[in-house]
Amino acid sequence: MKTLTEKTINSLVDETPSLIEYFEKRGIDYCCGGDISLQKAIELGQFDSSLILKEIEQWINHAQTATSVPSSLIDMEYLSVSSLIQYIKDKHHVYTREALKKLAVLVEKIAMVHGKEHPELIELNKLFSGFEGELSAHLQKEELFVFPSFLYMEEQLKNETSSGNPKRNVGTLWEPIEQEHVAAGQTLEQIKKLTNDFSLPEDACSSYAQTYRLLEQLTRDIHIHVHLEEHILMPKAEKIYQQLIH
Ligand SMILES: [Fe+2]
Ligand SMILES: [Fe+2]
Repeated sequence: MKTLTEKTINSLVDETPSLIEYFEKRGIDYCCGGDISLQKAIELGQFDSSLILKEIEQWINHAQTATSVPSSLIDMEYLSVSSLIQYIKDKHHVYTREALKKLAVLVEKIAMVHGKEHPELIELNKLFSGFEGELSAHLQKEELFVFPSFLYMEEQLKNETSSGNPKRNVGTLWEPIEQEHVAAGQTLEQIKKLTNDFSLPEDACSSYAQTYRLLEQLTRDIHIHVHLEEHILMPKAEKIYQQLIH
């Protein structure tokens, strides 16, 4: 059995989904960079190892004893590909589109009003407008090409109509999606740095505060969204693909 420090960040989140909140607080990547061991993550973040281990153990113990376990992610493991896709679209794609729309207006507004005193807002506005376009295109690509291919394969398997190879190899189909997830993660990191971890300056107005709050929420939501796609949906689709070709 692996010790706590030998386990990967992803496997820790799979076992205890509420750790997402902890990793989020500590700035430990559990999305695209989550394939590394906890030991490695501690080294990379230059954290106090004994403190992190103690906190994680407390977090895990609390999750195991809590009466209302925030474990909606655990159930995802048992969903079919089609239900999981529906969940991702309804919960995360709808939210992301709304947040991007609101933020596009807000980020531009605060850059115009406060950009002189806070030049990082001008940079944030530039970064965000590119990010908005890329992320919208990404959601569309998933909905129009990737998800339908996964659904088709699941249907084939259910109906046992897998004569011949399925049209699309899951690994090939997923490659550009994964690259975009990594790129989105990097942009979110830049946003976090530019906003000094979403901390407001003293002269911040309410739009400024709303912008930072929404940016922080969107960051958290994207991390969970990508985790679901990368570590739950994609492996499920890959498993179906393997069953179809063998
Ligand atoms: Fe998505
Ligand atoms: Fe995605």
